[in-house]
Amino acid sequence: MPGHDSSYWMESAPPGTPRPPLTRDLDADVVVVGAGIAGLCTARGLALAGCRVVVLEAGRIAAGVTGHTTGKLTALHGLCYDRLRREHGAEAAARYAGAQRDALDEVVRICAELGADAWIEHRPAYTYALDRRTAGRVRAEAAAAAAAGLRASAVTETGLPYPVAAAVRVDDQLQFHPRRFLLALAEDLAARGVRIHEDTRVTEVREGPDPGVTTEGGATVRAHDVVLATNFPLRCPPALLLRLSVRRELVVAAVVEERHAPYGMYLTPEGGTRSVRTAPADGGRRLLIVAGESFEPGAGGVRHRFGRLEAWASSRLPGFAEATDVRRWAAQDVHTADGLPCVGPTGSGAGGVHVATGFGGWGLSNGVAAGRLLTARLTDAPLPGWAGLVDPRRHLPLREYPGVARHQAGVARHYAAGFGPRRRRCTHMGCELGFNQAENTWECPCHGSRFAADGTVLQGPATRPLED
Ligand SMILES: Cc1cc2nc3c(=O)[nH]c(=O)nc-3n(C[C@H](O)[C@H](O)[C@H](O)COP(=O)(O)OP(=O)(O)OC[C@H]3O[C@@H](n4cnc5c(N)ncnc54)[C@H](O)[C@@H]3O)c2cc1C
Ligand code: FES
Repeated sequence: MPGHDSSYWMESAPPGTPRPPLTRDLDADVVVVGAGIAGLCTARGLALAGCRVVVLEAGRIAAGVTGHTTGKLTALHGLCYDRLRREHGAEAAARYAGAQRDALDEVVRICAELGADAWIEHRPAYTYALDRRTAGRVRAEAAAAAAAGLRASAVTETGLPYPVAAAVRVDDQLQFHPRRFLLALAEDLAARGVRIHEDTRVTEVREGPDPGVTTEGGATVRAHDVVLATNFPLRCPPALLLRLSVRRELVVAAVVEERHAPYGMYLTPEGGTRSVRTAPADGGRRLLIVAGESFEPGAGGVRHRFGRLEAWASSRLPGFAEATDVRRWAAQDVHTADGLPCVGPTGSGAGGVHVATGFGGWGLSNGVAAGRLLTARLTDAPLPGWAGLVDPRRHLPLREYPGVARHQAGVARHYAAGFGPRRRRCTHMGCELGFNQAENTWECPCHGSRFAADGTVLQGPATRPLED
């Protein structure tokens, strides 16, 4: 099918004011590394609290995962509440739900305050099952989400053009334009005196007596605290590294007539996950966006996976098959062994390194919530209720050991393979890379680093280009 390969969010937002690379040394209270949703929301919270903040971004603002997402801002994260309630208790589930609800309110408030046109639309969110064998899990999720304080109910009518066996519906959630939102945040941050530097890759992070970061160009920022909001942290203690894994996902989108556009936001965990929403498009029509096909970076077969996702959209969603122009893009997110994000300090000292990672495909509300949490931590304000739940230093429960062991066995295999003859090795920790022919990139299965065909780093945690 003809089409083009670029994220709708990147093309339907203004280019954004260019921010110059960092060329001289700076001092700050906090240096935030990464200008995605987690980094910029953290920078905003800290700037409002009166901190001197510097933001360093390897590429352009909001051009990382946040510029390639599906843009659902919802507290309904697949089937998370039933798991949270079983594994951490009802109180923990309520705290998680509260953090997400607050995040949605905050985005609405910020957009109103800044006059930002971030295409916010209020919509119900659904997690549904087609298969009767999954229906019980979905109904349990509805009960757990309602008990956690969300306006959740078990339904069978969803507005999708096909019947479902069961669904959980949460009312009054949001879909938005993530890049428009972040560009507005960046303008406001700059107006408040926050220094933002694009095309500035951090290559070294220091703790101890002289904390701060050094960039690829050699400039440094000395700061009391460092926030690594780089999606996958470029520096990570082994205990945290072990519990993180990366999954890549594909997105296909086509313009359809308004009458074909399902009203809500939808997700099914079945069949490799299928996520659906629509967004405003030219001529009063809607862009129908479908995401899915979760796989390990470097696994290959990406053209085939795109084909499978498009075939699913064409067979299920009226108007998609007739579209003459299909847009395709891809992105990846960091997952944790226990399904919870990691937001907070990585060490025990007063100043130090903090991370915001492990969003597991739900980093829009979690990224905003991470900004609130890190702001509270770094300004000694009362911590939000979910702080302990997502503390990166939390113990890994015994039940997660087998999953972690399986993933680490894979990492060890990829690492050993990196030493084979004529192999391309990742510059992060040496795992063997796989080539993604659909995107023309080298990808690392171990922690998700990505490189252009010429070896340039596209995505970390690696910070050095490939060697010949
Ligand atoms: C296909 C897909 C669809 C998704 N859909 C949804 C959704 O609908 N709703 C939802 O809630 N979540 C969704 N997610 C998850 C969500 O998009 C992410 O969790 C979130 O965008 C992550 O934000 P971030 O700030 O951590 O990362 P990013 O947006 O990637 O920001 C990190 C930034 O750090 C920069 N950086 C990295 N290394 C360095 C370095 N060394 N020096 C300087 N800068 C550096 C990068 O260039 C990047 O700009 C989706 C994820 C995928 C993959
Ligand atoms: S990303 Fe860690 S070894 Fe490649």
